[in-house]
Amino acid sequence: MSATPKLRLDRLLAGLGYGSRAQVAALLRAGRVTQDGAPLADPARKIEAGGPAYARLALDGEPLDPPPGLAILLDKPQGVTCSRKEAGPLVYDLLPERYLRREPAVSSVGRLDKETSGLLLLTDDGALLHRLTSPKSHVEKRYRARLARPLRGDEGEVFASGTLMLQGEEKPLLPARLEALGPQEALLWIAEGRYHQVRRMFAALGNHVEALRREAIGALESPEGLAPGAFLVLRADAVEALIRA
Ligand code: URA
Repeated sequence: MSATPKLRLDRLLAGLGYGSRAQVAALLRAGRVTQDGAPLADPARKIEAGGPAYARLALDGEPLDPPPGLAILLDKPQGVTCSRKEAGPLVYDLLPERYLRREPAVSSVGRLDKETSGLLLLTDDGALLHRLTSPKSHVEKRYRARLARPLRGDEGEVFASGTLMLQGEEKPLLPARLEALGPQEALLWIAEGRYHQVRRMFAALGNHVEALRREAIGALESPEGLAPGAFLVLRADAVEALIRA
C-alpha cells in the first residue's frame, strides 16, 4: 500500500467510527486505546493509517478495524436492500454499526435488487467506486438465473446480438453471453448495470426470473464458504486487481 499521511490519533479513531472526537478523547483518557498493550493517552499522537504502528494499536484489547482503502465482499442475502435509508433490512445492517460512521464513507459499488442475492462489493475508496461503476468500465458480472419457463433456445443469440432494447430505453444493450445450464437455469455475463437488467432481459423474451444470484464481478468470484449475510474485508487495491485479473 502506498504511504498515507499521518493523522492525529483522535482523528484517526473518529474516522474509523469509534466515536466523535470528544468520545474518542474519553476512550484515550480511560486508557482503553493501547499500543503493544501500553495505554496511549495522547490524542495528538500522529499515526499513519495502515502503517506499521497502526497494526500494534488496540481498543479494549481488540485490533483496530481496517484502515481506509478497504473493500468489503459481502454475500448479499435475498430480501435485503442496497440502500442507506429505505425501510426493511439493509445491507448496511449486516456490517458493524461503526462502519456506518466511517469517514470516508463506505458505499456499495452499484446495487443488487432486493430479491437478488450474491456478491456485493462495498468500498470507501471513491476512485475505485467511480472506476467500477462508470458506464465505460464494462466489468463483466456473472449471474445465475433460475427461470419460470424453459429457455426458448434463441436467448444466447439475442443477448449476444447487441441489439436487444429494453422497454423504456433508447440504447440497445451491449452484447451479453448466456450459457444454459438446464432447461430453466442459465449463467449470464453482462458488462453493464442497468436497472433490473437481467430480469428485464429475460422478460423481454417472455420469461420470468424466479431466482437470481450474482456469482462473480470480473475475475472476482464470490468467496467459497462465505455464508449469506457474511463478509470479508480486503484492501481496495487488492480487490481491484482481482476483478481485473
Ligand atoms: N439484474 C437484475 O435484474 N437485478 C440485479 O440485482 C442485478 C442485475
